[in-house]
Order: sequence, then structure tokens, then C-alpha cells
Amino acid sequence: MANDIIRKLESLVPELTEALGQASSLEELEAARVRFLGRKGLLADLMSGLTALGPDERPAAGKAANQVKAAMTALWEERLQALKDRAQEQVLSVFDPSMPSWAPDLGSLHPVTRVTREICTVFMGLGFEVVSGPEVENDFHNFEALNLPPEHPARDMQDTLYISDSILLRTHTSPLQVRTMLARKPPLGVIAPGKVYRRDSDLTHTPMFHQVEGLLVDRCVTLADLRGTLTAFVRTVFGHDTKVRFRPSFFPFTEPSAEVDISCVICGGKGRLGQEPCRVCKETGWVEILGCGMVDPAVFHKVGYEDGAYTGFAFGLGVERIAMLKYGIGDLRMFFENDLRFLRQFA
Ligand code: DAH
Repeated sequence: MANDIIRKLESLVPELTEALGQASSLEELEAARVRFLGRKGLLADLMSGLTALGPDERPAAGKAANQVKAAMTALWEERLQALKDRAQEQVLSVFDPSMPSWAPDLGSLHPVTRVTREICTVFMGLGFEVVSGPEVENDFHNFEALNLPPEHPARDMQDTLYISDSILLRTHTSPLQVRTMLARKPPLGVIAPGKVYRRDSDLTHTPMFHQVEGLLVDRCVTLADLRGTLTAFVRTVFGHDTKVRFRPSFFPFTEPSAEVDISCVICGGKGRLGQEPCRVCKETGWVEILGCGMVDPAVFHKVGYEDGAYTGFAFGLGVERIAMLKYGIGDLRMFFENDLRFLRQFA
């Protein structure tokens, strides 16, 4: 009886070997496993017969059953591995690692970023250093130290969002003049690019826009230095034929103050495009690009510089404005609409 079971058990091994040899897919392999090694399979069936054996026969038959089970399991696993290896090889045989991959969808720098960087590069070439400061400012840096006391009428032009009575979103980058001078002694030459905020929203104004501030302070800085610096800047950015005009103006933190116009880059300063009037310069042939002036002694006083010891110049320009003129962009809102057709043109 025991010998009979042992013989049958041992015959399972060649039978399984044959079945595995015929299994060419993972599904067929699984079917063979169920048939031979499953809970109701051939091996389990024979093993259940062991209980009928007497105590003297059982150990030898049990041992044989365990050996057969181990051998069958090993055979099955070996075949499984072989099939998996073959599947892997098939994948690799059609995978060509030298094929070009998908081109990643690359973005491009926003025109405002480009122009900001270009402006900074020009001034860095002239020896200026780039500084930055907070967009949430206090009244002292944004107004008071710039000679704009409470109730000063010029504050009306720069209304903004107030966080509290004395904390606000900065209305210009000019607070960086104050921060720089409070932190350092001359000689100093800095530019400060960044976002600024105003309570304005129409065709030509957005509540947030970008400026670059400039400040140079030393013992004998003159208006000629201001003119030379800004003329060099304009000609580098807009071309060497660009004409530059300084027009007297007023800012509380500079004295004297000026606004700088350049010959209109759209119509070449003619005021007309063929028969049509030039809309960018409104037929004047000039466009305004920045405000500037000699630092007002009152500002030096506010930051604690010795009265009369220094002179300096400052300027502030709008980045969107420069970008519009440089690239001939007609509508300010395009900068903020995130239309990829527009943005891709700067890639
Ligand atoms: N902060 C001024 C504005 O936003 C621009 C400006 C004018 C800055 C004259 C200056 C300056 O530094 O000297 O309207």
C-alpha cells in the first residue's frame, strides 16, 4: 500500500516536468500549478491517502511525499522564472534605447523677467549692485523717509492696499533707496527690481506691476552723471540712435527732478507710421520711460547722513513699459493673461 502511494507520488515529478515543458504562457503555467500543486490537485489527492496508512508505513511515505512536493515546487518556480525572463527579453528586444525621447514641454521666460534681467545686466555692467526688499512695506520706508509726510498730496497718486495704518503694499521700489542708505554708507550704487502695487486698474494700469529703482550716492555725484548713466542705459536697451530727452518734473524725494523721454521706438520719432498717426507716442515722437533726479537733501537727512556730505541721483522705471516699447506690445494686459501664444513668442 505505501509503496504504491510512493510510486504514484514519484511519478508526479516526470508528469509535471512534461506539463511544464508544454506551458508556454503564464496562464498555462498557472493551470499546471492548480492541477498538480493546488489544494484539490493531484499531489493533495495522493497525500490525503497517507492517513489510511498504518503507523509503521506512514513515516517513509510522508517523507517521500514531502520530497516530491519540494521537487515539484522547485520545478514549477524554475519554469516560472524562465517564462518571466523570456517575457523580459521580448520587451527588451523591441525597446531601442537609442531612440530619441519625447521632447519635454519647455516653458520660456516671461517678457517681464527677460526685460528685468536685461536692465539689471546693463546696470551691473556700469558697476551697480542688485538689491531687493519686501513688497509689504511700512509707511516710513515707502513714504515718510522719501519726503512724503502724511497728508502730502503726492501720496494720492500712489494709493495702495493697506495691511494696517502703517503697513502697506509698496507703491514703488523707491523704499529700497531708504533701506540701502540706512544699511550702508556711500559710495554706493544699487538697483532694485521688483513688484509694486497701486490702486489702479484700467487699459494702461494694472494693480501690480514691476519697477527697477536705481540709486547712486557719493561725494561729488552730479546731474551730468545721471544724464550719462541713463543715456548709456537707454542706448544699450533701445539702440544707439535713440534720442534721449530730460524734461523737468517733480518728485518729493529728488530735487531737481526730471522725466526721461526717448524718441518713439515704434515710429522712429516721426509721430506717424506712414499715413497713420502713431498711437504709442500720440504723434509727439517721444515716449516717457522713467522718473529721476538728484537725491533731495531731506532724504539724506532722514537716513542719518551728515548734512551736505553727499550728493546722489535716483531713478525709477516701469518694466512693463520698457518691455512694451522694446517688443512693440500694444496692450499691457497681455503680460498678465498667461496666453501661451503670446508667451511663446519670447522663447
Ligand atoms: N518712485 C517713482 C514712481 O513710482 C519713480 C521715481 C521717480 C523713482 C524719480 C525715483 C526718482 O528714484 O528719482 O512714480
